[in-house]
Amino acid sequence: MAVLTCQGVRKEFGGRVVLDGLDLTVDEHQVVALIGASGSGKSTLLRCVNLLEELDDGTITLDGEEISDPRVDPDRVRRRIGMVFQSYNLFPHLSVLENVTLAPRRVHRRARADAEAQARELLARVGLADRADAYPDRLSGGQQQRVAIVRALANSPRLMLLDEVTSALDPELVGEVLAMIRDLKADGMTMVLATHEMGFAREVADQVCFLDAGRVVEAGPPARVFGEPTQPRTRQFLRRIIEAGRL
Ligand SMILES: Nc1ncnc2c1ncn2[C@@H]1O[C@H](COP(=O)(O)OP(=O)(O)O)[C@@H](O)[C@H]1O
Ligand SMILES: [Mg+2]
Repeated sequence: MAVLTCQGVRKEFGGRVVLDGLDLTVDEHQVVALIGASGSGKSTLLRCVNLLEELDDGTITLDGEEISDPRVDPDRVRRRIGMVFQSYNLFPHLSVLENVTLAPRRVHRRARADAEAQARELLARVGLADRADAYPDRLSGGQQQRVAIVRALANSPRLMLLDEVTSALDPELVGEVLAMIRDLKADGMTMVLATHEMGFAREVADQVCFLDAGRVVEAGPPARVFGEPTQPRTRQFLRRIIEAGRL
């Protein structure tokens, strides 16, 4: 069974259609990359999945449960989803360890010692063990974003949503975050990521979805979508990317 399905998802802002009957299926252990021009609806889709936006039509299911049903408690759903944004959104007044253990302790009611042990293990796995007591402003952008990903992982999510997580980073720091996502895939994490990193999408994604004006115009394995796009709009988008030297 699919971990995530979106069927006919429609979202408008002030009468402007941003998601226009969008369909998407993500199977367990799959990595799906959302690509498309700025404004095509990638972030809105991820926000709808995490119930940060209400749908105007359509359904979203997580492990077969219709989470877009208005009667569903959004907090309960968000506990099963890890979301990471372009801006890391760490709490500046909390140490790395406190940032990572906050939700497990408050939301999942885990004991402090237990939550801290798990957090230290996760931080060690990404080479940040020695930064546990540091405050975010003492970390590089790449380290902060890795902490933000660790914080999302600390809730043992069923699904990770990553929205342009390398876009705010200096180029030399992008690699360490991408390496972490690669490791997550190797661990079998199911992920949907919106990305401008076409090379990375090509390498890590099982499925690439090209969004245009709130619809999935073309979807398939990266070799097919990048190598032999069938839709004129996909070809046009990729041509521009190639011209910009980003593929
Ligand atoms: N809260 C909002 N209110 C009004 N318009 C929005 C809002 N969020 C997104 N939009 C609009 O929806 C469209 C899709 O945006 P977005 O999902 O952020 O695209 P992407 O992530 O692909 O760049 C854009 O035109 C954007 O301006
Ligand atoms: Mg976006």
